[in-house]
Amino acid sequence: MDGVTAYAAQIHQAIRARRSAGKMRAEAPPRAAIERILEAATWAPFHKCQEPWRFVVICGEGRLRLGEIAAQTVDVSTFPQAIHERVRAKERTKFARAPFVIAVIAEGGQSAIDSDENYASAAAATQNMLLAAHAEGLSGYWRTGRLARQPEILAALGVAPGERLAAFVYLGYAATEPVAAARAPLSQKVRWLDA
Ligand SMILES: Cc1cc2nc3c(=O)[nH]c(=O)nc-3n(C[C@H](O)[C@H](O)[C@H](O)COP(=O)(O)O)c2cc1C
Repeated sequence: MDGVTAYAAQIHQAIRARRSAGKMRAEAPPRAAIERILEAATWAPFHKCQEPWRFVVICGEGRLRLGEIAAQTVDVSTFPQAIHERVRAKERTKFARAPFVIAVIAEGGQSAIDSDENYASAAAATQNMLLAAHAEGLSGYWRTGRLARQPEILAALGVAPGERLAAFVYLGYAATEPVAAARAPLSQKVRWLDA
């Protein structure tokens, strides 16, 4: 990268090289690394509401407890009877796809706008976590889907009414090589309003 300081080049490199690993090894990263990643999350920007996020670190047996709730709440009715148990078994292992899963919870707000902005802050905190994980030699995977909206899961995590689960960040060592990524040319995404 021409014309940038070494510091800027490192940051640009980290932003571009970060990738989500679908498969992670069972080996747990050190707790200190997870704490540094959580610390990085808390340096995200926010508006009005100071640090409008909370985190639940799901690990060890906690992953199985949530997996059991996932299995019990999955709607199997759209699947043939013969595979209902298989569908439930798959759900049971969902939180065990990584040694650590961080639930990122966005606080509610006094108004819909405040809630939106708190959610935006929690999303920024999530990206900080993904970048910090990458810097630690780990991979992060941001997931939402049914499990992030399932009332029984939210209750188990202590998500209060008005709060929103912004992300499950799966953290661990990548088990597979990252798939190369590409981005559209800036000209397709950017308009300069300069006159
Ligand atoms: C808000 C949000 C929710 C996501 N939820 C899921 C999900 O539930 N399952 C999934 O496979 N990918 C999900 N993703 C996408 C992945 O986290 C990942 O970012 C995407 O596959 C692109 O890969 P990359 O991070 O390597 O660029 C979600 C991304 C965002 C921003």
